[in-house]
Amino acid sequence: MTSQELLRWYVEAGVDETISEQPVNRFLKPEAIQPEAKQKGLADAAPPSSLAPPPEISGSANGEVTSAVHLAQAAQTVDELKAALETFDGCGLKKTATNLVFTDGNAAAPILFIGEGPGAEEDRQGLPFVGPSGKLLDKMLASIGLDRSGVLISNTVFWRPPGNRTPSALETAVCLPFIERLIELVDPKILVTLGGPAAKSLLAQTQGVGRLRGRWFTYSTPKLSHPIDATAMFHPAYLLRSPGQKRDTWRDLLEIKRRLQSS
Ligand code: URA
Repeated sequence: MTSQELLRWYVEAGVDETISEQPVNRFLKPEAIQPEAKQKGLADAAPPSSLAPPPEISGSANGEVTSAVHLAQAAQTVDELKAALETFDGCGLKKTATNLVFTDGNAAAPILFIGEGPGAEEDRQGLPFVGPSGKLLDKMLASIGLDRSGVLISNTVFWRPPGNRTPSALETAVCLPFIERLIELVDPKILVTLGGPAAKSLLAQTQGVGRLRGRWFTYSTPKLSHPIDATAMFHPAYLLRSPGQKRDTWRDLLEIKRRLQSS
């Protein structure tokens, strides 16, 4: 295989950017990463992470979720929640990500959007929805008179899944206590999930967004004094691929605007 063929294979497997000079297989146990392996060139690189065997889901997952719950619940402000996340090592995605991607926008806003997980540009900047789908999200917001000063935006996981794959059940589970606490602390009037994974995780729905959109649910936790109105929308990345769905999304946005304006 020539170097060019190998590079093409990496790109097709989802390896779309260079993070450091030498490849490191982070799914190996630390002691299994030999110093000489770190010195080898690209041609000797380990398989890309999206093709590597999934990390073991062990019994310690429960411990990680418990620790996430304790850390998250101790936070009394959104800034404290971000500081808690910075100390949290229970999500495997942290190992391959460049930056923590937590929130963008206004924590006092009446509407909270939750997407799936950071992409390459979000990972680089440490901010959610700043890549191509973020640009479309900004246009969607502008169409109903909103911008990032009037909304808060976050994701179901806070570190970029390698190759932009869907976050695993374990990765989602360990991040969920932080999202739940974010919702409690922000206490928005409206919660909007963007895409299937966010709807599944927060609205406990198994149907696709095509069936969920346009419907309204309530989101509750024991600490919230009242249920929050919640709905699901198509993910902007999906709308970029399927512009025919923008019509329905426009209806969803108008309903959100109407609800925001009603007392
Ligand atoms: N897609 C998401 O779900 N979240 C982001 O932050 C960016 C792209």
